[in-house]
Amino acid sequence: MSKKVSVIGAGFYGSTTAMRLAEYNIFDTVVLTDIVEGKPEGLALDMNQSRSIENFETKIIGATTTADGGGYEATANSDVIVITAGLPRKPGMSRMDLIGVNAGIVRGVAENIAKHSPNAVIIVVSNPLDEMTALAQLASGFPRNRVMGQAGMLDTARFTNFVAEKLKVPVGSVKTLTLGSHGDTMVPVPSRCTVDGVALTQKLSQEEIDDLVTRTRNGGAEVVALLKTGSAYYAPSAAAARMAKAVIEDSGAVMPVCAWVDGEYGISGVYLGVEAQIGRGGITKVVETALSQSELAELKVAAEAVRAKQADVQSL
Ligand code: LAC
Repeated sequence: MSKKVSVIGAGFYGSTTAMRLAEYNIFDTVVLTDIVEGKPEGLALDMNQSRSIENFETKIIGATTTADGGGYEATANSDVIVITAGLPRKPGMSRMDLIGVNAGIVRGVAENIAKHSPNAVIIVVSNPLDEMTALAQLASGFPRNRVMGQAGMLDTARFTNFVAEKLKVPVGSVKTLTLGSHGDTMVPVPSRCTVDGVALTQKLSQEEIDDLVTRTRNGGAEVVALLKTGSAYYAPSAAAARMAKAVIEDSGAVMPVCAWVDGEYGISGVYLGVEAQIGRGGITKVVETALSQSELAELKVAAEAVRAKQADVQSL
């Protein structure tokens, strides 16, 4: 069966994700859409011209879409859809400052893709992430296991990078975990962090770990402040593309993602950053991990903060 992924939004995040997905050479088609006329077509043309150099056969198709749903036919029958549409932060903004404007955009996108790809798995990356994931599920009407958000993969990758740099070890020897929200109530989980199998707490002082945790929590804002216009996209697109790959390959990989939580950790009825198994059906299982008492308490605080905001998006 032909394998198709669509990436909605051809900004830096969307176009980099489309390029990474094409270079995996595991999809037949990558569709890239945008509301800026000609931009997705132009980027697709450019990407296709790299195929013989980078050795991939995947075809990239660009399609301009309109507010009334025109152009979405190009995305029809996608297996996976990555929603990157929406505005990025400006320096000094929190992700939550984007909720009003991005809710309108994500709602429209989710309605349109649901019409054309009723069996797709949706991966949301638009901010504020946890709220936009909840909204995409509502607007698409898809089962909750077929809608997930990208955040934990990125936050974990940032944490891993900071630990590796601090200890001057290869990133490959570091394992970290973050749960909770992609925002102020992100919950790094030091008890699950290791360096060559040794607990991070034996390698760094509590103060040093706290500093790295704070830097991770502010990881996106640090990039935004430097760029001055736009937000991070290399690490975010790597994270989103890996999730799409796990879906299409039905790999069963366990990744930290934003998933619907229904009883795990004593938390119910909210989209939250947790570890989950990913496959063709989307989230095939939320995986509960052993947490320290304080980590569990922090996760519950994150759940309640996100729950309150997710209730708000229903009316946006
Ligand atoms: C970040 C944005 C993409 O964390 O949420 O960089």
